[in-house]
Amino acid sequence: MIPTIMAGVVSCKQNSFVCGLLFLFMITSQASAQNSFVSCDNNKGNYTADSTYHTNLNTLLSTLTSNTQIDYGFYNFSYGQNSDKVNAIGLCRGDVEPDECRSCLNDARHNLTQLCPNQKEAILYHEKCMLRYSNRSIFGLLEINPSYYMFNINNATDVYRFNQVLSNLMRILTGVAASGDSRRKYAAGNTVASNNQTIYGAVQCTPDLTQQDCYLCLVGAIAEIPTCCGGKIGARVGRPSCNIRYENYSFYQEPTVYAPAPAPSL
Ligand SMILES: *[C@@H]1O[C@H](CO)[C@@H](O)[C@H](O)[C@H]1NC(C)=O
Ligand SMILES: *[C@@H]1O[C@H](CO)[C@@H](O)[C@H](O)[C@H]1NC(C)=O
Ligand SMILES: *[C@@H]1O[C@H](CO)[C@@H](O)[C@H](O)[C@H]1NC(C)=O
Ligand SMILES: *[C@@H]1O[C@H](CO)[C@@H](O)[C@H](O)[C@H]1NC(C)=O
Ligand SMILES: *[C@@H]1O[C@H](CO)[C@@H](O)[C@H](O)[C@H]1NC(C)=O
Ligand SMILES: *[C@@H]1O[C@H](CO)[C@@H](O)[C@H](O)[C@H]1NC(C)=O
Ligand SMILES: *[C@@H]1O[C@H](CO)[C@@H](O)[C@H](O)[C@H]1NC(C)=O
Repeated sequence: MIPTIMAGVVSCKQNSFVCGLLFLFMITSQASAQNSFVSCDNNKGNYTADSTYHTNLNTLLSTLTSNTQIDYGFYNFSYGQNSDKVNAIGLCRGDVEPDECRSCLNDARHNLTQLCPNQKEAILYHEKCMLRYSNRSIFGLLEINPSYYMFNINNATDVYRFNQVLSNLMRILTGVAASGDSRRKYAAGNTVASNNQTIYGAVQCTPDLTQQDCYLCLVGAIAEIPTCCGGKIGARVGRPSCNIRYENYSFYQEPTVYAPAPAPSL
């Protein structure tokens, strides 16, 4: 069931030199934090060890990862004052249970602060959770960079029909996720492609986005598939504000009350 994965950075705002470095860095960090993609932003400021920012960051992340009140997988916390204020967002995939979510975010916290030891802004993507922080306000903002993608190297057999069925599934999931509430904007479901092959998909936004921003984020992420991962039987695109994934096997917990009605198979 474990697919062979290729990966890379989809897009960067920086020039190509910085993007190249970011790419190498991500490959390096993938080696030290398996199954995670990490981006440390070197252009948004550094903090020094034991500074107030550092202490605030540690306090914030330990508060976030030990919170047992939140049971919907979305954490938007701040800590500190003025220029030492830190803002963080933690998001777990919509089907991940609270205990597993906390544990994923706790691992993410350790991996991220180890790999980005002095950047004020950083992000980690993992299959089951995403963690990011910054000294600027990041709540309620649609953000598409830094993004990442991964794909299964195997090609679909009937690419034309596969793409039709896939885009139909993604369109339905996007509508369901975007119309979620301020606690959860997630949808997962499957549909039958050709040759009795099933496509399983899941899409999600941070629920602090408006319905429209969630929709825009997901549509943009889906639009990257032909470029990054066209014709592949599985792929993921992650952005700070949303993520999408599809596979030819079930990768999320079922049954889920967040699933839409089975998608028609064109
Ligand atoms: C953290 O790093 C460990 C060791 O590389 C890895 O096994 C784990 O998947 C990572 N977890 C997260 C959430 O980054
Ligand atoms: C964040 O830190 C950077 C670099 O130290 C600084 O230029 C920027 O003004 C800070 N942002 C806020 C909102 O404090
Ligand atoms: C922050 O530190 C990194 C290395 O850790 C360095 O490459 C970068 O230039 C520094 N950024 C600033 C704004 O000082
Ligand atoms: C998938 O298709 C591409 C382009 O047609 C080809 O280069 C690649 O070798 C194929 N991959 C596999 C695993 O068959
Ligand atoms: C944090 O998220 C919750 C749930 O989406 C929302 O109600 C609240 O306004 C958010 N808080 C901030 C500071 O954005
Ligand atoms: C698809 O599955 C059904 C029932 O599982 C079977 O009857 C049918 O022959 C299969 N079709 C193909 C093309 O494999
Ligand atoms: C998914 O696709 C791969 C490669 O084509 C295939 O080996 C595997 O059996 C498929 N998995 C399922 C559950 O159909």
